[in-house]
Amino acid sequence: MRSSLRALLALLSVAAVMAHSGPQDFPRRKTLAFGPVLPHAKFTTSPEPHLVSSSFMGSSDPHEVARAFVENLSPNRDPRVSYIIRDDSYTDERTGVSHIYVKQIVDGLEVADGNINLNIKGGKVLSYGNSFYQGHLPKDNVETPSPHAAYCEVLSDQVNNRKAQFAALRASSQQIPLVSHEDLTGVNLNLLEHLRSSNCDYLERGLSASSNPSEGPQAAALMFMAAATPNSGVADDITAKFSDYLAKVQATPSHSLHASGPEYTLEGIPDTVNPVKAKLAYAQVPNGDKVELKLVWKLEVEMEDNWYEATVDAFEPTSIIAVVDWASDSPFAAPIPVPEEPVGAGTYNVFKWGVNDPSEGERSVEKENIDTIASPLGWHAIPAANDPLRRGVKPRSEIVNYTTTAGNNVFAHENWEGRNSWLNNYRPDGGKNLLFNYTYDPETDESTDPMKVAKAYINTTVTQLFYTSNMIHDLYYRYGFDEISGNFQQHNFGRGGKENDGVIANAQDGSGFNNANFMTPPDGQNGRCRMYLWNTASPYRDGDLEAGIVIHELSHGLSTRLTGGPSDSGCLGWGESGGMGEGWGDFLATTIRSNEVYSDYAMGAWAANRPNGIRNYIYSLNMTVNPSTYKTLDKPGYWGVHAIGEVWAEILWVTSQNLIKKHGFSKTLFPPKPDASGNIPEGDFYRPAQYDVKGKKKPLVPVHGNTLMVQLVLDGMKLQPCSPGFFEARDAIIQADEILTGGENICELWNGFAARGLGPKARVDGKTPWGGGIRTDDYNTLAACKTA
Ligand SMILES: *[C@@H]1O[C@H](CO)[C@@H](O)[C@H](O)[C@H]1NC(C)=O
Ligand SMILES: *[C@@H]1O[C@H](CO)[C@@H](O)[C@H](O)[C@H]1NC(C)=O
Ligand SMILES: *[C@@H]1O[C@H](CO)[C@@H](O)[C@H](O)[C@H]1NC(C)=O
Ligand SMILES: *[C@@H]1O[C@H](CO)[C@@H](O)[C@H](O)[C@H]1NC(C)=O
Repeated sequence: MRSSLRALLALLSVAAVMAHSGPQDFPRRKTLAFGPVLPHAKFTTSPEPHLVSSSFMGSSDPHEVARAFVENLSPNRDPRVSYIIRDDSYTDERTGVSHIYVKQIVDGLEVADGNINLNIKGGKVLSYGNSFYQGHLPKDNVETPSPHAAYCEVLSDQVNNRKAQFAALRASSQQIPLVSHEDLTGVNLNLLEHLRSSNCDYLERGLSASSNPSEGPQAAALMFMAAATPNSGVADDITAKFSDYLAKVQATPSHSLHASGPEYTLEGIPDTVNPVKAKLAYAQVPNGDKVELKLVWKLEVEMEDNWYEATVDAFEPTSIIAVVDWASDSPFAAPIPVPEEPVGAGTYNVFKWGVNDPSEGERSVEKENIDTIASPLGWHAIPAANDPLRRGVKPRSEIVNYTTTAGNNVFAHENWEGRNSWLNNYRPDGGKNLLFNYTYDPETDESTDPMKVAKAYINTTVTQLFYTSNMIHDLYYRYGFDEISGNFQQHNFGRGGKENDGVIANAQDGSGFNNANFMTPPDGQNGRCRMYLWNTASPYRDGDLEAGIVIHELSHGLSTRLTGGPSDSGCLGWGESGGMGEGWGDFLATTIRSNEVYSDYAMGAWAANRPNGIRNYIYSLNMTVNPSTYKTLDKPGYWGVHAIGEVWAEILWVTSQNLIKKHGFSKTLFPPKPDASGNIPEGDFYRPAQYDVKGKKKPLVPVHGNTLMVQLVLDGMKLQPCSPGFFEARDAIIQADEILTGGENICELWNGFAARGLGPKARVDGKTPWGGGIRTDDYNTLAACKTA
């Protein structure tokens, strides 16, 4: 155990050097994210007819339909295997589709990555994803010796591939700063290396797996921390005095009513800010072309800058199987009546909605977006019972009206300290008229301390961050990111979902430069957005003032909560899914800034002070300007989530132009505000309402191509399975159109995907669960869609 840890730590210092090797020497938050992609996981939008018909129940309870369907999927189920229907399953009122999430249970333990998601309408299963374990069960709940040999071999290949890719990347000097929460190239490689060495060492030393996880979750948590801590002194100390540390960890069993297996809280793990939660579970671990079930500890590890969900082998704690990084704090709940009128509307001097950054326009004085559907209390009020700022000070039934940049959706403030406290951080005060009218005129004298220059306009920048973040809340709300689907609000107005999870938005966060990140824990815990200054120019540029970066970050919250259900934050962790998590943010940011007259766009160009921005290519319809296709993912430099993400964003961008060509362009993405009686006027935004045979209003269909595409992209996120790849996400968007319009855009969508190689016959061969494979582009669309 010690020798592999030492090897790991040596490698970690190498990784730290790599992290600083970019052309502009950007220091970055350390973060880990990796795990297998299960080869047997599948998503189908045309479920087997016999399964659909045998579970079809007219319009009855979608839970019953789901149960019947899952039963029919595996009629001869071993009695040790069962399942539960998760309580974050919901019915989307707008589309009428129920999204049901099913978790697999073996021997009373959750299979961490064993999920079925079903999309059901009118008693019928429209599509489903299935990653339930299908192999042999381990004997008597005791793991057979781990498959170290095969594992060692697979991982060695993988490490070698990635080293080669990494060398190529560095040689081609393509390394670029990354906007988001993820992927420190060197550390990912390093963790793979660690996985490899722990498995290969194990073999070399001729050890055999012990027959019970005798060290419990303590050793797993300590081992994980030795890999995860950004502090090499702490890592060294854990290695040197492992048994002392082990003796000091206090494990308290916790009993919860719904627990499916032993759970502990662990105190005394260094570098954590809260006790570590540990739960015994199964996880599926690929081994050659088989998948095996392993006993693991699922850890939730909250640190200053990270909040990890880690899966660690219960018998060999140096073996970390998967890691996802989410993060943040948590408050509590209680419903109160909704006032009929918003409490008061703010006025803000900002770069208005649609102006991407200071190079694109001047600031102007803008009114709060008053939308009584999306934000019934406006942007500046919170029911006292859900207010973490004045908790216990006000009677719970009162509504607290803020004159600062705090409210039900967003808390925006400075965070120069760069740490986790936020409640009492400085927020500008707009007074009783809620007027946030501040100047923006950064001093350009190079002899002045650039931090001082930036801090002098903190009122302006927090105001902008508050404005952009609330606009995004209201916009996404109207496209279906609402309470029940897991949005971010302190109070949920009795509309379902978990509350007390408004976005904590840190402006000028002191924990870094030239970046931004968003941490998305499961529904009911605050999302946290950290925006940084960029030292790419003098005076510094402030990422808060570049809407595209803020929108990209907030879109992580959107895609993470909508994919795989509100309570599962582990569905977009790595690989193609993690990449699309980045891509949706770029696509939505670009769509929001785009105009009636088509133009190409770069991402992050102003903040990074580079005309072509922070991606390899700008978003363009022109194949020469942006040559990305599905097969681009095979190239060196394309296994990191941001590079994968820009390919996905480009594919969506090209596809959305097809819808715009057919349906035209709406100057606003915001649907009309509801009238006094709460009805939504169709205006020219939605097509005239249609009614079904029972007289029920069908979901409103946006008239224009850009609005329709945003709708299909969000609806697709709800339909797709946990850990989707490009194919699954594409199929989900196409199915979203079928549900919304009866499939009238099937050709525009397929033609768009096919234009960038993601046609119906695109495929990947020889992919291992740990990555790789060879992709084949398909530029042919559906036969029915070909025009002469
Ligand atoms: C906040 O504003 C609402 C609506 O104007 C009002 O009903 C409520 O009493 C106010 N709360 C406080 C504590 O003043
Ligand atoms: C905002 O402040 C400027 C001066 O900085 C002033 O000219 C303008 O009238 C103010 N706007 C509002 C709406 O008060
Ligand atoms: C921010 O605005 C307040 C008034 O609301 C003012 O007192 C303060 O000096 C401003 N801060 C800076 C750094 O300009
Ligand atoms: C695509 O871009 C290239 C390079 O900028 C340019 O030469 C070419 O004319 C463009 N093609 C079209 C169709 O605009």
